[in-house]
Amino acid sequence: MYENIKKIWPEIEWIKDEEIKDKTYKCWEYAIEHSVLSAEDLEKIPFSLLIDDCDITFMNHKRTAVQLSVDIAKRMEKNFGTKINWDYLISGAILIDVGKLLEYEMIDGKLGTSRDGKLLRHPFSGVSIADRFGLPFDIQHIIAYHSKEGDLGKRTVESIIVHHADFVSFEPFQNAKCLNV
Ligand SMILES: [Fe+2]
Repeated sequence: MYENIKKIWPEIEWIKDEEIKDKTYKCWEYAIEHSVLSAEDLEKIPFSLLIDDCDITFMNHKRTAVQLSVDIAKRMEKNFGTKINWDYLISGAILIDVGKLLEYEMIDGKLGTSRDGKLLRHPFSGVSIADRFGLPFDIQHIIAYHSKEGDLGKRTVESIIVHHADFVSFEPFQNAKCLNV
């Protein structure tokens, strides 16, 4: 079960709570079933359609953000004594972009963002998927607040970490954000 997802997302096995782990698998399974993309496609497509000549794949970007989230949280726990809910952090980090699978459309072999994807960006569709499988609100919060949409609200510690780990894995590749002198 979940073999194709386990292959692209070995980090799901880091989740200790069996129920959260199973629901995290279910979210990805649901998203892939309802996407124009397959699990294998995610290891090939660029992580952003907005960056020209992007050779970082979707899965490389997403797995790096999860790994960074854990690295940052470990350092904060060790140096600051910050209390971390590891299962919330890991599941949330794994699910922040699950809604993106529903944003894509394929027209004449070209990948783009669908009208539905523009109407409801992935933080919102991601929450909808996580809620469908009954994941805790702490995890739905990480999904909802991971992107710029979450900047107007307050984030939990796990959500702050995931938000920054995600942007660290993104902005260095964005000409509009990264100073290359
Ligand atoms: Fe995102």
